[in-house]
Amino acid sequence: MDTWSIKKLAGHCGARLEGVSLANASTSQLQEMRSALFEHGVIVMPQQHLSPDQHIKLAEFFGEIVVNRFFTPVASHPIIAEVRTSPNQAEVIGGTWHTDHSYDAAPAMCSILSAKELPPFGGDTHFASMAASYRAMSPGLQNILKGLRAWHSDSSFATTKQGINPKQGAFRDPVIHPVIIKHPNTGTPCVFVNGDFTINFENWSIEESAPMLSYLYALITKPIFTARVVWEPGMVAIWDNRLVQHYATADYSGYTRLMHRITVAGVPLEGA
Ligand SMILES: [Fe+2]
Repeated sequence: MDTWSIKKLAGHCGARLEGVSLANASTSQLQEMRSALFEHGVIVMPQQHLSPDQHIKLAEFFGEIVVNRFFTPVASHPIIAEVRTSPNQAEVIGGTWHTDHSYDAAPAMCSILSAKELPPFGGDTHFASMAASYRAMSPGLQNILKGLRAWHSDSSFATTKQGINPKQGAFRDPVIHPVIIKHPNTGTPCVFVNGDFTINFENWSIEESAPMLSYLYALITKPIFTARVVWEPGMVAIWDNRLVQHYATADYSGYTRLMHRITVAGVPLEGA
């Protein structure tokens, strides 16, 4: 049976997996893929061209699917979210560094994006390792951060211009997570604050939190910790929202980009 060929995309995160068709993969091939995800944070598999049903089956290998409350569903398969940029749209979904669903009490384990329609250039997605940036910190800063928790909220969706129209009742109360989490599967310590959804540290005001959060956002997105994914036809990308943050590049004005996204349920996060 074929095995995956695995090549790292960069020093601290990302791997390209080739040689196996996801639609026909055996359980052991899927397990090998999941191990690569936990090792590299984000994995990309070109030329997969998954149908919506195959996309759903792949997601169910990882766990229960969580339907996003804010995105437009795919009409034929509403369990899949449509991530669409229209030619006349200036701002794109995800055009800032973030992790998906950190505003949920049990944040999403992984997101699975399937390329449907790509612009002729641009639209790359950047990923940054939250484990590598933690390792690069001094023990002094690590210890301070390990003692902190932070509030996360979905409130930024209320003012976004990214083609999202939240339904009445979509918003929830803020939730709290450790600033340094222990990866639920591997135990790896990871930074878990992001610029889209983190509001402030527990028992700190928003003003008091802002300088430290700004420092952390600059640190965790340093190019050395990142990998850049250049999309190819039929490519599937899976990222672990606890291990990496991501950023969608909006540099293809005038063109359509359509991706299908499924998000898989995670667990409440514990501190490292
Ligand atoms: Fe995202």
